[in-house]
Amino acid sequence: MKVLIVGSGGREHAIAASAAKSKRVDKIYCAPGNGGISEIAECVDIAAMEFEKLADFAQEKEIDLTIIGMDDPLVGGIVDVFEERGLRVFGPRKNAAIIEGSKSFAKDLMKKYDIPTCHYETFHSPEEALLYLETVSYPVVIKADGLALGKGVLICSTPEEAEAAVGTLMLDKQFGDAGDTVVIEDFMTGREVSVLCYCDGTHIKPMTSAQDHKRAKDGDQGLNTGGMGTFSPSPFYTPEIQKFCEEKIFQPTMDAMKAEGRDFIGILFVGLMLTKEGPRVLEYNARFGDPEAQVVLPRMKNDIIDVMEACIDGTLNQVDLQFEDNAAVCVILASDGYPEKYEKGKAITGLEHFKGKDGYYVFHAGTKKTEDGIVTNGGRVLGITAKGNTLKEARANAYQAAEWVSFENKYMRSDIGKAIDEAE
Ligand code: GLY
Repeated sequence: MKVLIVGSGGREHAIAASAAKSKRVDKIYCAPGNGGISEIAECVDIAAMEFEKLADFAQEKEIDLTIIGMDDPLVGGIVDVFEERGLRVFGPRKNAAIIEGSKSFAKDLMKKYDIPTCHYETFHSPEEALLYLETVSYPVVIKADGLALGKGVLICSTPEEAEAAVGTLMLDKQFGDAGDTVVIEDFMTGREVSVLCYCDGTHIKPMTSAQDHKRAKDGDQGLNTGGMGTFSPSPFYTPEIQKFCEEKIFQPTMDAMKAEGRDFIGILFVGLMLTKEGPRVLEYNARFGDPEAQVVLPRMKNDIIDVMEACIDGTLNQVDLQFEDNAAVCVILASDGYPEKYEKGKAITGLEHFKGKDGYYVFHAGTKKTEDGIVTNGGRVLGITAKGNTLKEARANAYQAAEWVSFENKYMRSDIGKAIDEAE
């Protein structure tokens, strides 16, 4: 069969690598793709938001399955466009992707259906938000309602910071319309865990857990990023916690979406905070996490195409989802300066070290193929993933492999998976 993947990051490279392992797949296209994806897929120069062009391409090439990796096209309704044309597509429709596209929708859903999360209030004007901020205790979390490139969540320790955050989102409109509405919520403390779940509208099957490292610098300092590294599984996500989440969070979320007439089909990414009072939902996303996908998918034993098709066909309950009994760690190699200013176009060397090495992966994110070879083309450049029998072994392997690759201004955090030591 022929598969089209929409997106251009490390996540889409991990999805493409999984699809390439499927015996059912003869040909993979990726739009727009990147330098690394082009090694296993034919990259097509169509942007992820060009829905009609993508659907034309899928029709012309007789694509059997299109997989949407990114949040923007999902929230924008790409799945609806494909379905209207009778094309088979994996991902939630617009009316379900809103669970990621609107923070206030997600919070109202949790409140209505009694899904554990923290207290919040929603505001449509800066004056109301500022009045409310006089009554809260700090720190407090201020979130742009809409998509903001992963930068719309501001943790404020003082009233001054909170006032500035409201100004940035609602008055300066740093993220455009996404900040017209803000959600102000209590700050939760505990361990963060990401659980990505396959969903068929009725049934939900969680994958193995992972933990991301969102801040740019060691010790969880610096600005928020898309994610600087992950490990899987999380040793803090115990079987008891998993049972609680399945019964009180995952299935209730599926049921809530169904009850609202918004059947969720695709990947539901549940961002959890394991607080002293129990697990609470931090956020929902409507797609694979990046770089969570880079540690979860290499450990999945199932054929990814079978699982995705079961989601589309409503037969996920018949799938026995299985993961390897090992661990994986992903370290992101970024361009120094990310997530602010950084340079592009730097030659990348050492990629050949990964060829034929079982358990080691180099997932491309911000890279481009040129006549002179692969060069940097973004903030997050590569995701270096390695497996191990234990988390510690996987971490040592990933950091060793991170040294195989060189480019000017290469930057990585040195403490991805440090929490593993604290779990002992
Ligand atoms: N790694 C967090 C995300 O994908 O949103």
